Amino acid sequence: MGAWLLAVHLVAAALWVGGMGYAIMVLRPSLPVIEPAARAALLFEAHRRFLRIVWAMMPLVLLSGYGLMFGVLGGFRGVGWAVHAMHTVGLVMGGLFLVIWFGPFQAMRRAMAAGELPAAMAANERLRKLIGINFSLGVLALALGGFARFGA
Ligand code: HEM
Repeated sequence: MGAWLLAVHLVAAALWVGGMGYAIMVLRPSLPVIEPAARAALLFEAHRRFLRIVWAMMPLVLLSGYGLMFGVLGGFRGVGWAVHAMHTVGLVMGGLFLVIWFGPFQAMRRAMAAGELPAAMAANERLRKLIGINFSLGVLALALGGFARFGA
């Protein structure tokens, strides 16, 4: 069971963190090749699809993490500082995801529906900053996973 839990944990974490990396390091720098009016539409569609994926991946990361911690490793006492740190970082990332979804993403959705592109891009700017923070936390959590592997 531990192997399946860790496999789910790694795939879900990779899709979540990797998706944020793609948005920041690939999608955004590529935007200047299309017209400004099309950028808001592309960004909104990309966010809409990716955030839907995170609604599935975030619970998988948390549940598989708790499954590993309590079902395999003996609970909080059975794991080291790296897993405690990863657990904390994972919860902060989950909370930030909810802020992103209910905050700037809903604002961008309303602005797109009203055809207000400047407001949509302003909401996208807030969304981008929060995704930047969550991506950095995700990279940290992945690194902590490496330490956890060697018993830290
Ligand atoms: C997005 C956030 C997270 C990322 C990127 C992440 C990443 C990882 C990685 C890469 C490993 C593999 C370590 C190995 O090879 O053994 C790992 C293991 C683990 N993670 Fe996470 N994790 C995250 C969130 C969480 C959360 C929220 C929890 C707790 C609820 C958690 C609990 C664990 C546990 C218990 C292990 C096994 C550690 C061991 O083998 O000793 N993780 N995680």
